[in-house]
Amino acid sequence: MARRSRRAAAGPRKLRAMTDPVTGHAPFPPPVDFPGRDKLLAGIDRALAQGDGHAVTAALRGCLCALIRDPAVRLPDCVHAPISDHYARRELYRSREHGYSVVAMTWGPGQGTPIHDHSGLWCVEGVWDGELEITQYELLEREGERFRFRAAGGIQAGPGSAGSLIPPHEYHTIHNASADAVAVSLHVYQAPIEQCSKFQPQSGEWYLRVDNALRTDAAA
Ligand SMILES: [Fe+2]
Repeated sequence: MARRSRRAAAGPRKLRAMTDPVTGHAPFPPPVDFPGRDKLLAGIDRALAQGDGHAVTAALRGCLCALIRDPAVRLPDCVHAPISDHYARRELYRSREHGYSVVAMTWGPGQGTPIHDHSGLWCVEGVWDGELEITQYELLEREGERFRFRAAGGIQAGPGSAGSLIPPHEYHTIHNASADAVAVSLHVYQAPIEQCSKFQPQSGEWYLRVDNALRTDAAA
């Protein structure tokens, strides 16, 4: 969701307004250390060696499911801290070799996303803590910036589960439906994602596409 000019209740936001003149992406994030980090990254790197996007995401799903259950891997404490006015996005790592980006998201009770895409990037999402409702949407038709969607199924995902989104099947929402529990998810994106499309409800199944700048919260 676009969160310009908002300020995180849990501390100052790390804004990534500058882009690297060489890569065109936001600058590499500072390294974030946590127990099992090398094991996590080695597992992701092995999955990336599969090459083809479908094979990579399938391998990553299995990899994340195992790593979430692995007591040797413990995400940094910051990812368990929700931010009151938006779900938190903290980039934990970006691969210079493979180009992928690892983002931890923290969902306070009731927090979630509108329907959105991932700008054509594949993504694998694993639930680390709590439970998340993930609903995928089928694009039925499009008239310019107006899109008609229909929910195409959803899952209630708990700890140790992982799913993937592969374009063009990338429209979805994520929601923490709990009244009191925080949820944490770990997302491996094909490349750093700094913007996407979000879709505002109009009438019936019609939605209006809007550019959505994604901001990153400090991971420390
Ligand atoms: Fe998403």
